Amino acid sequence: MSKVRTLFRCATCGAEAPKWSGRCAGCGDWNTLHEEVAGPAPSAMPLATATPPRPITELPSDDGRPVPTGVAEFDRVLGGGLVPGSVTLLGGEPGVGKSTLVLQLLAERAAAGASVLYVTGEESTGQVRLRAERLGALEPRLLLAAETSLPAVLAHLESIRPELCVLDSVQTLHDPQFASAPGSVTQVRECAHRLVQAAKSTGTTVVLVGHVTKDGQLSGPRVLEHVVDTVLSLDGDRHHALRVLRSSKHRFGSTGEIGLFSVGASGLAVVADPSSMFLGDRRDEVEGSVVTASLEGHRPLLVEVQALVSPSPLPQPRRSVQGLEAGRVALLLAVLQQRAGVALAGTDVYAMTAGGARVAEPAADLALCLAVASSVSRQAFPADTVAVAEVGLGGELRQVQGMERRLAEAARLGFRSAVVARSSPEVDAPIELLRVPTLLGALRLTGVARTVG
Ligand code: TYD
Ligand code: MG
Repeated sequence: MSKVRTLFRCATCGAEAPKWSGRCAGCGDWNTLHEEVAGPAPSAMPLATATPPRPITELPSDDGRPVPTGVAEFDRVLGGGLVPGSVTLLGGEPGVGKSTLVLQLLAERAAAGASVLYVTGEESTGQVRLRAERLGALEPRLLLAAETSLPAVLAHLESIRPELCVLDSVQTLHDPQFASAPGSVTQVRECAHRLVQAAKSTGTTVVLVGHVTKDGQLSGPRVLEHVVDTVLSLDGDRHHALRVLRSSKHRFGSTGEIGLFSVGASGLAVVADPSSMFLGDRRDEVEGSVVTASLEGHRPLLVEVQALVSPSPLPQPRRSVQGLEAGRVALLLAVLQQRAGVALAGTDVYAMTAGGARVAEPAADLALCLAVASSVSRQAFPADTVAVAEVGLGGELRQVQGMERRLAEAARLGFRSAVVARSSPEVDAPIELLRVPTLLGALRLTGVARTVG
């Protein structure tokens, strides 16, 4: 070993610094530098022997055909399944259900006759077996190893050559060649590099499980994104049953699709009719409730947006937001006040989506505004109507894409009319379009404008 040196590394972007400072010079984040002991300089990739460039038309294309995993919602997000020899990162907060999901996936593949390997670094083999029993996922073809040493994992891959290998989690892996602790940026990055090489050379499909904290800060997942082929995240509120699987990077297809699961005693189950699930407990004729038709990937989802406005005893009134973007809600409250005359000074405003849904698209703007106005005016919004439009700073309504799909879903669930922007295209669905140019127009039309006087 050559001489050991000490350096500081940013947990966000992985930049090196010779001495500590409060702010990373690479990405500008604060308090992200951590001390590391570096062994010999990282020998990430051996230099490839030069291959002469050739015309693209003469080169074969990668087969890259996805293999279905058997977990339908997972396959849907990946556009069919996992591509052999690819490396996928599955990120998510602790406790969201990553280990459960990968175990179900491995069991499905094993039941279909594939050889699969589950490397657990966090739980003992006994614990994993117990979980497998609970999930009904006991499969003799599912090989299990409690291992945290990278060379040992690579040796398993070489000798077993499984079709699919899951490493749970990448933060527990370490390569003794590097002195840094498991979970440090150096370890995580080096281990991932070696695993990517191993996946390409053995043809094994690798899934790395990675923890992310609430603000996505923990070292690991962020620095891994460049190395892997596909980045998935499993997300959901621990008080609700819904889990959403999204992809933010996918070298073999698009990233638009989402997968929906619900948490239960026997693991993650497919949500057959998510819109009905979100609207299941809805009460008609309640002030401050408006349904919108949102679009997640290619999937329409009906979501109830709720608002409650009440006089505030506080000098700084409270604005509490759940399931929506707080910044967007603040903006819409200002528009409501300035463009539609809804008085919100001195009031607390609570805004949320029902059932743990998360809506981050502007199409829900109008529903939020109408819900707030409905709470202020104490007039219930028509129960058989949805609202789908973006609200501009001038108080104008703007059309959003995918109206056909959104409104077909609304019609399927029995909604009879939709408040939309004036320019919204005609749709085939059996639903009446109520076109309005402005927010104020929408408030008046639906009867939730404040009755003057
Ligand atoms: P787990 O899969 O261990 O989460 P992660 O690997 O992301 O940290 O799940 C957390 C807990 O939730 C665990 O105690 C099992 C429980 N759980 C269920 O009971 N049913 C389910 O469908 C899921 C996903 C989890
Ligand atoms: Mg886990």
